[in-house]
Amino acid sequence: MVSQLTDAFARKFYYLRLSITDVCNFRCTYCLPDGYKPGGVTNKSFLNLDEIRRVTRTFAALGTEKVRLTGGEPSLRRDFTDVIAAVRENAAIRQIAVTTNGYRLARDVAQWRDAGLTAINVSVDSLDARQFHAITGQDKFHQVMAGIDAAFDAGFERVKVNTVLMRDVNHHQLDTFLNWIQPRPIQLRFIELMETGEGSELFRKHHLSGAVLRDELLRRGWIRQLRSRSDGPAQVFCHPDYAGEIGLIMPYEKDFCASCNRLRVSSVGKLHLCLFGDGGVDLRELLQDDSQQAALEARIAGALSHKKQTHFLHQGNTGITQNLSYIGG
Ligand code: 5AD
Ligand code: SF4
Repeated sequence: MVSQLTDAFARKFYYLRLSITDVCNFRCTYCLPDGYKPGGVTNKSFLNLDEIRRVTRTFAALGTEKVRLTGGEPSLRRDFTDVIAAVRENAAIRQIAVTTNGYRLARDVAQWRDAGLTAINVSVDSLDARQFHAITGQDKFHQVMAGIDAAFDAGFERVKVNTVLMRDVNHHQLDTFLNWIQPRPIQLRFIELMETGEGSELFRKHHLSGAVLRDELLRRGWIRQLRSRSDGPAQVFCHPDYAGEIGLIMPYEKDFCASCNRLRVSSVGKLHLCLFGDGGVDLRELLQDDSQQAALEARIAGALSHKKQTHFLHQGNTGITQNLSYIGG
């Protein structure tokens, strides 16, 4: 029987974020400013296809309906299409999404869709090619834009774009972003910069509350949408004159954690109950054989009973999170 994962605060978990690699080829200022360095604490091999199959099968048995593949940059894995197909084997998982920096989209997105991918989030922090290069360390703005077009061509009806809101970097560019989504069914999500262990100076300089944008959108006639169950914590706004939507993700907002519906598994198979501040529960030893599934279900459900109510980010707690490439945001 399918049981539904629930924690001590009656939050239900339909959504798994699965990191499949820590490696990234971009160097975003807020994440990996010096680039990916192999050989850190997580320098073990990443979950293989069989382990991915088993972990998603177990979460599906526990009521998971949506899996997001993250990294690092998930499409750097040569078997990425096979990973999608492995998750797809679970009929109960109706949505398979990827968060990508977009550099492989133009080449591979049609193949990913054929394998069963249902949703795409692309990171785009600037619509100016030079500024994009400065933020990501990669001169790939046009390649990423071509990738978004390719996603629409491949049959995705809409694409989500993640934009990390940074004071004095892109916070003045609302008009440029709005013009871009006016004719395109893109949900552009401004994500408040989060403080990580390595990023506290950047945070002090560039953090800006999404409430500033919210006020501006409401002033311009944008309307707040209701949330659906697997939406996650974005506040979504729409406008009759725009094909696109705006999302605001404000982790510092009061009650942000009350709508938490996600669990995370790292690329080496640790279950993390929160993005911030927990050491992780090892699942990998229970991913070696199909016969371990019942034990794995019990370990996941047991861990969840310890999930804390909130992330304590306000106290400057960044937990083990040195940067988000480890667990994929
Ligand atoms: N603050 C906010 N978002 C971040 N991401 C990575 N690091 C941070 C951070 N410090 C998010 C971005 C990016 C995704 C892969 O992870 O939204 O698009
Ligand atoms: Fe790579 Fe994403 Fe981190 Fe940028 S934010 S460095 S694309 S993992």
